[in-house]
Amino acid sequence: MLVFTTHSEVRSFLKDKKKSIGLVPTMGALHKGHVSLVEKAAQENEWIIVSIFVNPTQFNNPEDLLKYPKSLEEDKFLLAPFKKKLILYVPQSKDLYPEKLVSKTYNFGGLEKHMEGAFREEHFNGVATVVESLFRKLHPNKAYFGEKDFQQLQIIRALNSQLDLQIEIIGCPIIREDDGLAMSSRNSLLSPAQRKSVPIIFKTLQEIIAHQKEWNISKMETYFRRSIEKESQLKVEYFFVAKTSNLIPVKQIEKEKFHRIFVAVFAGKTRLIDTVELGIL
Ligand code: PAJ
Repeated sequence: MLVFTTHSEVRSFLKDKKKSIGLVPTMGALHKGHVSLVEKAAQENEWIIVSIFVNPTQFNNPEDLLKYPKSLEEDKFLLAPFKKKLILYVPQSKDLYPEKLVSKTYNFGGLEKHMEGAFREEHFNGVATVVESLFRKLHPNKAYFGEKDFQQLQIIRALNSQLDLQIEIIGCPIIREDDGLAMSSRNSLLSPAQRKSVPIIFKTLQEIIAHQKEWNISKMETYFRRSIEKESQLKVEYFFVAKTSNLIPVKQIEKEKFHRIFVAVFAGKTRLIDTVELGIL
C-alpha cells in the first residue's frame, strides 16, 4: 500500500496513469462500514484513495475532537486486502488548509439547517470545507459516502453540483453490527454496559417502521423517547421525521413522498446517530 502525506505526492503518483480514481474520505478508526465504501470504490475504479484526517473544523465540541479514536496501524491492516490499488492519504492540517484552519461558509438551501446542522453548530461548514479541499486537490472521478450520515451525503451532493466539481457522488448503505447497532468509530468509546444497551436504538426504529401506517409522528417520537430512556445510560437528543428530498422535518407524513427518521442519542458522553427510511404511504 502506498502511503502519502501530501496531495502533491498523490497527484504526481497518479499523473500519467489516466485511470479512474475513487475517493473514500474518512476520519480513520476504520470499521466494516468504511470498508464497505472501499469495496465499492475498488469494484468501480482502477485506483482508490482513502483519506484519513480528523477534521478539526467540523467538531463543535473540543472534548469530542480530543477523544476521537485513532488507530492508524489497525486501519492499515483493514485496508491491506486492497493494497495493490490503494493509496492511503494521511495529511497534516496544512496540506488541506494551506492558509487558516477555519471553515468557509456555505448555503445548501436548507439541507444544512436541521438535525445535525442544528445540534452541531458549524458542523456542515467544516465538513464541506474539508471535502471541497479533498475534491479540488485529489480530482477523483467518484467519491463514496455512507447513508449512515445521510444529511452529510445530501449536502456533499449539493456541494458538488453548486461548485460544479463534476465528481460522481456514490451513496452506500448503512452497515450494522449483528445486533443492529450502526457501525461507527465512536462505538469504541462505549463502556460495556452502554454497548449492551445501544442496540435498542435500531430495535425501536424497526418497531416504529412496523407501525408506520397506524402511528402519527408525535406517537412515533413519544414511543422512541420512552423506549430509549428506559435505559438509564441513554438520552435522546433528537427525533425527527424529515422529507428525504429537502431534509426539512415534518409534523405529518405526506402521501407519496419519501421520508426518513433521524435520531441522535447520547450514551453517557458518546453521541450516536442513526437513520432509517419510512415506506411511502
Ligand atoms: P467518518 O465518520 O470517518 O466516515 C467516513 C465515511 O464512512 C462517511 O461517508 C460515513 O457516512 C461512512 N460510514 C460511517 N459509518 C458507516 C456505516 N456504519 N455504514 C456505512 N457507511 C458508514 O463522515 C466522516 O468521517 C467525515 O465527516 C468526512 C466525510 C471524512 C469529512 O471529514
